Amino acid sequence: MTIPLFDLTRQNNAIMDELLATSARVLRSGQFILGEEITSLEAEAAAVLEAPASLSVSSGTDAILLALMTAGIGPGDEVIVPDFTFFATAGCVARTGARPVFADICPFSYNLCPESVEDRITERTRAIIPVHLFGQSADMTRLMPIAQKHGITVIEDCAQSIGATHHGKVTGTIGDYGAISFFPTKNLGGFGDGGLVLAADSDDMALAKILRVHGMEPKYFHPAIGANFRMDALQAALLRIKIPLLQEYNANRRTNAATYLEALATSDHAWQPVEEKSPSIPEGARLTTPLIFSHNETTWNQFTVRIPGENQRESFRTHLQTAGIGSEIYYPLPLSQQECFAPFAPHSCPNAAQVASECVSIPIFPELTEAELAQVADAILSWLDQ
Ligand SMILES: Cc1ncc(COP(=O)(O)O)c(C=O)c1O
Repeated sequence: MTIPLFDLTRQNNAIMDELLATSARVLRSGQFILGEEITSLEAEAAAVLEAPASLSVSSGTDAILLALMTAGIGPGDEVIVPDFTFFATAGCVARTGARPVFADICPFSYNLCPESVEDRITERTRAIIPVHLFGQSADMTRLMPIAQKHGITVIEDCAQSIGATHHGKVTGTIGDYGAISFFPTKNLGGFGDGGLVLAADSDDMALAKILRVHGMEPKYFHPAIGANFRMDALQAALLRIKIPLLQEYNANRRTNAATYLEALATSDHAWQPVEEKSPSIPEGARLTTPLIFSHNETTWNQFTVRIPGENQRESFRTHLQTAGIGSEIYYPLPLSQQECFAPFAPHSCPNAAQVASECVSIPIFPELTEAELAQVADAILSWLDQ
């Protein structure tokens, strides 16, 4: 049987009647911009995320951009971002006119390395954007005091971590801002683009709300320059159906990950690192599982392993493909090596470069069946024993 990396149709088909009825309700209402669906989604999302409030926006990218704009980041400022993440994290910084400064990652959790962040701080540093990559919280316990010591804003990129916790605190509510994505492959997968901004300070939230509509307050008066960052009412109405299901989706992903980890523990060639400062990958290990800390509850947006050794990742992916299993490389090139960032004279980040050359993500979506999980695990184990 063929197993795709991701299949959203299974999830949506299970709630199709409600999706269609809700679409009809919104279409008949004639209310497409802002209004009740938007305010209800914002209240319901805030409750699930244990945040005082939330602000719906047009995408996860715009959530990051809006947080940066609300924090007043602009030309002359530096913003520290991880070198290993999706483009949007750093692209938004450049769009404000500020300089993205790339910090290295920890090689087993794939998240921002606090020592590298400290190393990059200058008198121009205005913000840090920790990304909770693949669903696991970055080390906020160590990053927050660094930011506080230097008076730096923290914008959590929670695009992949909706509902994840760090020492029991929901990601997005730890720093000054949280930015969430509803891109269809995310844990709360929307029906097009969408996102959410969280803010710790109610004045910041009020400003973000004004900036979301061209910096307009009151109507046709503009104390600030914003843009159109609104979410559609139809999108909000459909997302509301999934909000109560988020915990179940995340729990299913955790069960799937546990199944893989249990299966991989039977192989001498699969190594499961136990701490950040683990020694380098041991001799004979052909695959490294992600390091997940016990104080983090991850959302497993991706299950990403490392396949060290020349051409080994290609061999692994070909083996999976032959077994009918999808995989993807998130992400093949660190941001510091992207052509568009060359003018920012990026620092080199050796861990990010190494991980980018070895990472592979395998199917982890919530609706995978036990038989499919077993098929994926068997295919991996047979490659490891080759
Ligand atoms: C880490 C990260 N940041 C930001 C984004 C941007 O989100 P969106 O695609 O909703 O604009 C994504 C997802 O695409 C992401 O994975």
